[in-house]
Amino acid sequence: MRDPRPHADKPERTSLETYGKGFEEYLQSPLQPLKDNLDSATYEVFEKDPVKYISYENAIAKALVDRIPEESVSDVTCVVMVVGAGRGPLVEATLKAAQTSGRNIRVYAVEKNPGAVNTLLNRQRDEWGENVTIVSSDMRLWTAPEKADILVSELLGSFGDNELSPECLDGAQSFLKGDGVSIPCSYTSHLSPVSSAKLHSLVSCAIDKEKAYPLHQFDIPSVVYMRNMYEIAQPKVCFTFLHPNWSVPVDNRRYICLRFTAKESITMHGFAGYFDTNLYDHIKLSIEPTTYSDGMISWFPIFFPLVTPVYVKQGGEIEVHMWRVCNSKKVWYEWCLTKPITTAIQNPNGRSYWIGL
Ligand SMILES: C[S@@+](CC[C@H](N)C(=O)[O-])C[C@H]1O[C@@H](n2cnc3c(N)ncnc32)[C@H](O)[C@@H]1O
Repeated sequence: MRDPRPHADKPERTSLETYGKGFEEYLQSPLQPLKDNLDSATYEVFEKDPVKYISYENAIAKALVDRIPEESVSDVTCVVMVVGAGRGPLVEATLKAAQTSGRNIRVYAVEKNPGAVNTLLNRQRDEWGENVTIVSSDMRLWTAPEKADILVSELLGSFGDNELSPECLDGAQSFLKGDGVSIPCSYTSHLSPVSSAKLHSLVSCAIDKEKAYPLHQFDIPSVVYMRNMYEIAQPKVCFTFLHPNWSVPVDNRRYICLRFTAKESITMHGFAGYFDTNLYDHIKLSIEPTTYSDGMISWFPIFFPLVTPVYVKQGGEIEVHMWRVCNSKKVWYEWCLTKPITTAIQNPNGRSYWIGL
């Protein structure tokens, strides 16, 4: 779940607690400013998630067991690289997984944020020891001394691929063995049409008169806790990414046309976006409402607004087009309706919102 800020070149996750003011206030201001690098308070909030890290630990343990058969346990050391390690919770999950599975591992923790790297270095000295190597680098640029059996990451946004997980992991897989495993191995976004006068009015109010395009705020997806919202139809699958991705060239652009049938006659204000991910062997995390991982607190949904609310009749068709567009410098989304009416494409060419590579 991350930043909806226009011209944000290094998006990071936002959360209610990140801003420390409770969710009502957050709802009043969905277009939050962004920090280039996460601060300690933000990491601290993520690290409280009671579900995410246990699921990762189980996934890593399963991958280790699958990779090293019982009879080879004393002969083989598995190389695990945690990329985007933050302050180390996934390193901790990796070490615990090695312990519970009885497998030998060597760990590298790669992180680009200098503040987080300091914490990693302290933890390496005080808690983890020589078995963990800390690497201060962008994972896309690092020249690794050896290849990894398992690449562990959590670079996911509320819409799955909206924080450049595909692009970062495409870079990091240069140091993954040909038969190596990525955890997560896939993630999928989901979209559903929603009615929320409140969210629409919050977006309408987020005007910045200095912006060249007067309705720029409607080009920006917002990460929000959607309390005052009615889902007009069940979410549908939008975009899927698989890792590792050995295709040449890798193409992370996507386009889909989704059709929904309205459950009620109602005014539609935009689309709610969610994601789910398969970490490894059916160990999943999800914020999609029908498969939500109970107790998980790390992500809120994303809201793609429509400029003008659109009335839909019960049983009527809603047709939305969604693009994930990439060039050599940035990634962005564009979207429009073709039913029940045709609307102009929002955020064309990433004019108001993009994520810098
Ligand atoms: C969502 S945080 C997850 C941190 C930690 N793994 C956790 O679960 O709490 C993503 C982390 O990836 C780091 N990151 C993002 N892109 C990166 C890149 N290209 N190279 C290295 N680190 C990156 C960020 O600085 C951040 O610490």
